[in-house]
Amino acid sequence: MTDPVRSIEHRFPGVPTLEGAGVRLRRSFSNNEVPLFDPFLLLDRFGSSNPADYLAGFPWHPHRGIETVTYVLDGRVAHGDTLGNSGVIGAGDVQWMNSGSGIIHQEMPQRTEGSMSGFQLWVNLPAKEKMSVPAYRGLSAGEIPEVPTELGARVKVVAGTFGTVEGPVRGIPVDPTYLDVRLPPGGEFELPTHPGHTVFSHTIEGSGVFAGSDERPVAAGETALFGAGGPVRVRASPAGHRFLLVSGRPLHEPVAWYGPIVMNTQAELRDAVRELDHGDFIKHRRPIVEE
Ligand code: FE2
Repeated sequence: MTDPVRSIEHRFPGVPTLEGAGVRLRRSFSNNEVPLFDPFLLLDRFGSSNPADYLAGFPWHPHRGIETVTYVLDGRVAHGDTLGNSGVIGAGDVQWMNSGSGIIHQEMPQRTEGSMSGFQLWVNLPAKEKMSVPAYRGLSAGEIPEVPTELGARVKVVAGTFGTVEGPVRGIPVDPTYLDVRLPPGGEFELPTHPGHTVFSHTIEGSGVFAGSDERPVAAGETALFGAGGPVRVRASPAGHRFLLVSGRPLHEPVAWYGPIVMNTQAELRDAVRELDHGDFIKHRRPIVEE
């Protein structure tokens, strides 16, 4: 027996939020939604053509216990971290950073003509990986395969598999799929998913109607969380539909969350805060080398 198509269980319009040193963004989901999106913790979408909305950036701050995934659609974000990485993430680039036991980094959007936009997704780490050695993956746009379909879609595969094409981000504990899908007007798309995984979409542009749900299209800026089932199927509106489609294996573990640090217990959060105060938060470090 094949699993039925997944239908939308919840829709999230996103909430205007001021984050970092004063960046205006839209928060799709966060700690109020735990554990609905398990293993995903947070999705922020930043996007503005007014530099005052983003130039303050995200100066030096810690992370522990999670992976942060930055996907830049337009513009440039300069970054540096205590692992010794530094550089600029440009349009179409992805930074998939495993904070593990702890990193301190900064993420600073650069002044851009036109729009500066993108996403940050937080992916939880299993308890046994939370204090692992941090790891950094930087992928340029050209390293991310784009797969055309017979029905006119174009699918960028960051992680997971679409058809026979596997994305460059591999070996992530929750076995994620991360796709950026563009459908032409009226175009159709279907993705088989692992029945046990959590699956959500976020519409970037245009809108689309997902099979198995009411006929109300999911519009730009909306996040849709799907219920249990098998494939996700969608038809684009006459304006076309560009969306992220993300899935991952839920962890079913307790979540203790304090700002940029997400652990399993309050005691672990207290340890992290004490270590930040005492200057021994970072367990693995390389000197920061300016490029
Ligand atoms: Fe960060």
